[in-house]
Amino acid sequence: MNFAEQLAGYIARVEKGLEQHLPGASERPARLHEAMRYAAQGGGKRLRPVMTLAAAEVFGITNDAALPAAIAVECIHTYSLVHDDLPCMDNDDLRRGRATTHKAFDEATALLAGDALLTHAFFLLAENYSGELARNLIRELSDAAGSRRLIGGQMEDLLAEKKADATQDELDFIHLNKTAAMIEASLVLGGLVGRANEDDLGSLRLAGRHLGLAFQIIDDILDATADTATLGKTAGKDAKADKTTYVKLHGLDRARQLATEQTEKAVTAFSNLPNDAAFLVELTRQLTSREK
Ligand code: IPE
Ligand code: IPE
Ligand code: MG
Ligand code: MG
Ligand code: MG
Repeated sequence: MNFAEQLAGYIARVEKGLEQHLPGASERPARLHEAMRYAAQGGGKRLRPVMTLAAAEVFGITNDAALPAAIAVECIHTYSLVHDDLPCMDNDDLRRGRATTHKAFDEATALLAGDALLTHAFFLLAENYSGELARNLIRELSDAAGSRRLIGGQMEDLLAEKKADATQDELDFIHLNKTAAMIEASLVLGGLVGRANEDDLGSLRLAGRHLGLAFQIIDDILDATADTATLGKTAGKDAKADKTTYVKLHGLDRARQLATEQTEKAVTAFSNLPNDAAFLVELTRQLTSREK
């Protein structure tokens, strides 16, 4: 199987997992469950759950043992996008090529669907894993999604808007937390299901950190250079909101260079794993030249 076939296989498992593990659209209240499914099943690259499955596979998990963890990760990521798009945050109308959840439904429903996706992630972990593994998965994911990391990064992202004197330190905090935290956790959750040892979990975490930094730098570059139709979300929003981004602080060329540096650091961290992580290395490299 080549890389593209492997990636398609992982994505198909994630789509099936979402279908299987989300509350049914007709369950009461149907409007809420429809909104959760609208947000979670409307496309997206599925990068994070694919990384969870691939990281587990590095440690010998070829069945669906890591799938509930992968779906939990995608639930949190999707909730973060639903809330990120709300008028009180980035105020976006378009996501994954269609109307944002608050546009397709209404603000209150989008807020509740986001809350419910966040909560459902931890239900999935508690329901599908037990003992020490369940505890470690819940600890890892709640830390990554919490106020010190994802939510903290989102807070500083908003605080840094329209700030003329935003610093590199603030930008690092934003990227490390709003984006890299969940990418680290995606990989670590896979490693945990595969019973990876502390050293190998450390390598996964480090790879995720660098990959996450590269990923958000590229997201900032694409916001400034790509078109809305390709991105599936409105381009040019960061400059309009005067966000603190790599493009604003460093310019496009230097931002591209920094993304490549972070990508190579991620590749080095993956190469410290004892087993073959060729898929994750190729995924990391391909993300450098992604178009959306
Ligand atoms: C968007 O993430 C939010 C960021 C952290 C940059 P993705 O670019 O992975 O979004 P989807 O899941 O493919 O829609
Ligand atoms: C958001 O970053 C990261 C999240 C945690 C949702 P952005 O605000 O840059 O993400 P996009 O560009 O809207 O996808
Ligand atoms: Mg944002
Ligand atoms: Mg946004
Ligand atoms: Mg962005």
